[in-house]
Amino acid sequence: MSLMDNLRFKGSNATQMLRDQHKITVGISEGFIANEVKVGDFVGHVDYTISVHFKLEEDVLFPVLSPLLRQYLEFEEPIRIIRGEHVSIKSLYNTLYRSTSFEAEDSSTTSEEILNKSGLIAKTLLQHIFKEENGLFGMADLYIPEQQREKIQSDLEKKNEEYHRAYVSAHARVK
Ligand SMILES: [Fe+2]
Ligand SMILES: [Fe+2]
Repeated sequence: MSLMDNLRFKGSNATQMLRDQHKITVGISEGFIANEVKVGDFVGHVDYTISVHFKLEEDVLFPVLSPLLRQYLEFEEPIRIIRGEHVSIKSLYNTLYRSTSFEAEDSSTTSEEILNKSGLIAKTLLQHIFKEENGLFGMADLYIPEQQREKIQSDLEKKNEEYHRAYVSAHARVK
């Protein structure tokens, strides 16, 4: 099943920018699984997604959504699950270049291990986006009042610029 064909990536002003980013990530992840996107390009996109997209959700959307879920559902479980998945994806990414094999002469990862781990990251990321698109973001569109949506949209745009610039300059320093 292709998520690209099955998700609409359409929501209110409060979630649309993040959904547009989901669409790009789904295209790259499914492309990588189908062998149409190179591993280096996929891994670069995962790094960017962790630094920009995950941060936007955690810093802008979830703080607004948390109290609303508490108010309407009396629990924040959906956000806790989604945050937990961000942590899992980050740690998968962080171990990408570390070997898990005890027999390895040195601790560097083989290209086959990197491919396997990247495949796991791609699948995890796709499931994560599926959950957000079909679950959490629908709740956000339902519970965030109309008059708050534009403010969230502009906060997302501002922070997106800021995180993008920080990412680009951190990357330039490494190179
Ligand atoms: Fe997320
Ligand atoms: Fe997301």
